[in-house]
Amino acid sequence: MSAEVARLCKHSLESARVGTEEDKIQNGRDFYKFFFTNYPDLRVYFKGAENFTADDVQKSERFEKQGQRILLAVHVLAETYANQEVFKAYVRETINRHRQFKMDPALWLAFFTVFVGYLGTKTTLDEATKNAWAEMGRVFNEEAQMHLKNSGLPHV
Ligand code: HEM
Repeated sequence: MSAEVARLCKHSLESARVGTEEDKIQNGRDFYKFFFTNYPDLRVYFKGAENFTADDVQKSERFEKQGQRILLAVHVLAETYANQEVFKAYVRETINRHRQFKMDPALWLAFFTVFVGYLGTKTTLDEATKNAWAEMGRVFNEEAQMHLKNSGLPHV
């Protein structure tokens, strides 16, 4: 049920809050530190940061800002999930904005594994919460692949 998935995802995001305070800004940096450390091959999409270490991310104004953008985007997913029409429109908008990066379409589903891995560094996730994120990822990916297909772009 989408309301329950939304509730569990939103609850877990209390450990990755956005904001202007130093601890919230750090939450965003921490996402990219986790991402680039554990999935170094995916740095290829971040032009100029292909060789960034966690330490480089920590000192980077670009990733200070990008950290807030990605966390905000994931919060928006969780906040809109109970309204599937809006959620799916936001998924399509996200796909449109990534067109220039020519990403492997399989990454849309993989992102949720990355994100849950990051969240697991902030809090302990129970099985129900992990399942909720997997379900959100499944729905996100379904809409993403459909939209890529309808846009005449590579999809899986
Ligand atoms: C921006 C890659 C998944 C939301 C970017 C940028 C890259 C990128 C290369 C430009 C940032 C820069 O170079 O400084 C990826 C990859 C993904 C992924 C490889 C999957 C593994 C997602 C997902 C979301 C998202 C699932 C939404 C929940 C954003 C936002 C921006 C951004 C909000 C800021 C720019 C904008 O709003 O257009 N992404 N992305 N990304 N990404 Fe992603």
